[in-house]
This record gives sequence, structure tokens and C-alpha cells, in this order.
Amino acid sequence: IPRKIAATPPMGWSSWNKFAEHIDDKTIRAQADAMVSTGLRDAGYLYINIDDGWQGKRDAQGVLQPNAKFPDMKALTDYVHSKGLKIGIYSSQGPRTCAGYEGSYGHVAQDAKTYAAWGFDYLKYDLCSGEWFYADADTVKRSYYEMGAALQATGREFIFSLCEYGRFDVGSWGRDVGGQLWRTTGDITDDYPTMAKIGFDKNGNPDWAGPHGWNDPDMLEVGNGGMSADEYKTHMTLWAMSAAPLMMGHDLRETSPETLAMLTNKRVIAVDQDAKGVQGKAVRKVGTMEVWAKPLADGRVALALFNRGDAAASLALTAADAGLSSISKVEDLWTGTASGKLPASYSVPAHGAVMVSVAG
Ligand code: DGJ
Repeated sequence: IPRKIAATPPMGWSSWNKFAEHIDDKTIRAQADAMVSTGLRDAGYLYINIDDGWQGKRDAQGVLQPNAKFPDMKALTDYVHSKGLKIGIYSSQGPRTCAGYEGSYGHVAQDAKTYAAWGFDYLKYDLCSGEWFYADADTVKRSYYEMGAALQATGREFIFSLCEYGRFDVGSWGRDVGGQLWRTTGDITDDYPTMAKIGFDKNGNPDWAGPHGWNDPDMLEVGNGGMSADEYKTHMTLWAMSAAPLMMGHDLRETSPETLAMLTNKRVIAVDQDAKGVQGKAVRKVGTMEVWAKPLADGRVALALFNRGDAAASLALTAADAGLSSISKVEDLWTGTASGKLPASYSVPAHGAVMVSVAG
């Protein structure tokens, strides 16, 4: 049941990384306000996603109600929509979600209808609680298919986000169950080792990614304070080179000018959102350095140079890294500086990154 939506990786914000289950109507509205006032919406970040922790009990007919922190879901989605944004919600197919709230088990079609009636545009569907978590591939696939089909049966357009941690080669069947993105790993945390492990080594098979279906190495930690500026730059560069969904995970009200500049760099976002939809990958590894390439729709190639080591290091980028025989134009994507040729070498700080586009 593949759907022709999400031609480029979805962009937005999710409550989980910063707030976990400590969320309420007021906080979500405030994030929507900040998405607009910061300029993040206009930079392309469209979704305001409520993660785990909104659920209350089912009524006598089995209809799931929000908890007391969310007095009126329809009013909340109307508010977010009035800001020119879209809004997402979260569930899990087990009886319980990962944080112990009511899951969709036995109520899949009913819950899909409820989300549609409330006006949601996006569902992240987790894989939690007991027997479900340890289930075999067929059971897991079927459970995603059931919700994917139920969402489509509502007639409302939903982005369907699969969160089963990259198990059972999810990217090879994620589209078939109606998904547009699928997690490739367990949870990111706001530290360099975890981010780097996911971004370099667990970001999903590039063959599975492309328009309407994306590997999801998890939400961004940029702005949460646990990494240095160079490390966050590496985080953004890796996600953009990987054509990863860009779901911010900090408190948007506390977006510093540095964080804002990093999240709204037009050239970097354009690489992530490039219409060709190719997931970039490593083409060369030298010591602590990795060179990545991502071909772009207009014939240019984005190249990234990463230094995974704990000390500064230098390396040259070459035309061959981009699969070209010669280079006539280079643009540094973080700074915008253009030139006619590649420099003799780039010095990259510890845990840092350089990102350029080159044309033949
Ligand atoms: C596990 C997921 O990987 C997280 O992103 C988050 O959704 C939590 N579950 C919520 O319980």
C-alpha cells in the first residue's frame, strides 16, 4: 500500500528528545509559536509531533481519550494548523507504549479514525510492550500493515513513521505497509559517541531510501547542549548527507542564534531535501577521516569530510571522490564560499565536518 507522499524527507519537531512524557497542550502550542517566530517553519520544518505521553483512558466504546494535560485535541490541531504547520501523534501496537501509556492493541482501526477525526497529519508507530517487542518478522510486519491500512482507510493523508529500530530489514518492506520513514536504530541520545555511532554506522541501507520512503536515524539533538558546536555540525552534516528526516528535538523557545543558524542553513537543508533523493554514503576512509558523497538532482555532488578522531586532521577532497574526472566549481555549503577548485587539503577539527558541493 505505498503512497506517493513525502517526496523528500519529512522535516519538523518532536517532543520526545527534550520533554519525554512531560508534555502538555500549552507546551505543544508554544513550540508551534516558536516554530513560526524563529523562522524555522519558513526554513522547511513543518511538523509539530506529539510523542509518547498524551494518552488517557478508553471510554465505554473503546475510544481513546487524551489525558488531562491535553483537554481538547481538535482545538490543538486547529491551533497548529492555523500557524501553517502540520501536527503528528504517537502510538504503539502493543497494549502499552514504551512509556507505559495505552497502546493501540485491539483498537487499531478505531485509533486511526480517532487521530483522523482530531485532525492529525502524521503517526509515529512504536514497537513496545511484551510479546510484541520480541515478535517474529511476520507479526511485526503485519502489525505495521494493519495500522498503515487503517490510516489510509480514514481517507485523511497521514505520514506513517515506523519505529521498530531497524529490525527485520524494515527498509525493504516499510513502503509496502504504507510507511514513509522507518527508524534504523534504538534511540539517539545527546552525546557524540551515540550520535556518531548511529550517523556513521547505523543510518540504514542507502538502497532502501528514496522519494516517498526514508531511513530514519532518529531525531536531532542539535540545540540540546550535550555536544560541541563542531559535533552538532557533524550531526547535521551526517543527517543531510543521509537524506534523513530532520525532526528537531530541542525546546524551540530556547533556540540560540548559533543553533538557529545551524538548523536553517539553506544549502545544507537543500542537500537533505534534494529531489533526487539519494542517501549519501562513505566513499573513502583514511585514518580517522571519512569522505562521503551524495549525488544531487542538478548534477552537482555533495561531498562531506568527517574527522572522527579526537585531534584535528587534514585531508584533500578529490574529483574522484565525487565520481568526476575534473572539477570546475566548489561551494562550501556551511559558509557559502565559492571557488573554482578544491583546496590542496582541508583541516578538520576533532569530531568536525566540512561539507561542499562540487560540479564537474
Ligand atoms: C522509543 C522511541 O524510540 C522513542 O523515539 C520514543 O518514541 C519513545 N519510545 C517513547 O516512549
